[in-house]
Amino acid sequence: SPVLDELLARLVADVPDFPQPGVLFKDITPLLADHDGFTQVVDALAAPGRDETGATAVTKVLGMESRGFILGAPVALALGVGFVPVRKAGKLPRETFAVSYALEYGEATLEVHRDAVAPGERVLLVDDVLATGGTLEATRQLVSRCGGVVAGVSVLMELAALGGRAAVSGVEITSLLTV
Ligand code: PRP
Ligand code: MG
Repeated sequence: SPVLDELLARLVADVPDFPQPGVLFKDITPLLADHDGFTQVVDALAAPGRDETGATAVTKVLGMESRGFILGAPVALALGVGFVPVRKAGKLPRETFAVSYALEYGEATLEVHRDAVAPGERVLLVDDVLATGGTLEATRQLVSRCGGVVAGVSVLMELAALGGRAAVSGVEITSLLTV
């Protein structure tokens, strides 16, 4: 919507040369600090978790550590469902499923508790940024290992040039801002 577009243009700050020269970093902290902006963004991220009547159509929201926690937890509350943290390796205390994925240098692993998503359960995934799609694809695989169904994916921002959409198979991705 035009209201959301204006909010994102005003409250997502461009920071040149961070974390490295030549990289334009998109800083969402001004948006998080603005109650109206944060509220509207959470509502928009929650929309893919609703059906055409506006009723909640998922039973969990999953957020990916760490920036996905900031957005995913309020989205879960907005939808009236529980929140599941998808964590970096070694942080969860009980039995987990783990999926590793390639980074630019090296590898990362994400984990979820085995009982965090029940077989057949429909879930919404929430993160701040879709870049290469590695984080999202690993999370999709974790949900699949649990026997769950990814009913939707919401990201605040998509870095289209990195081709993340093509790296994630068979899920509908909603992004509020494409850069
Ligand atoms: C960033 C961002 C996304 C991910 C997107 O997370 O928050 O989760 O990268 O990149 P991808 O599509 O190439 O996987 P990061 O792993 O840097 O950690 P953070 O959320 O803890 O800051
Ligand atoms: Mg992240």
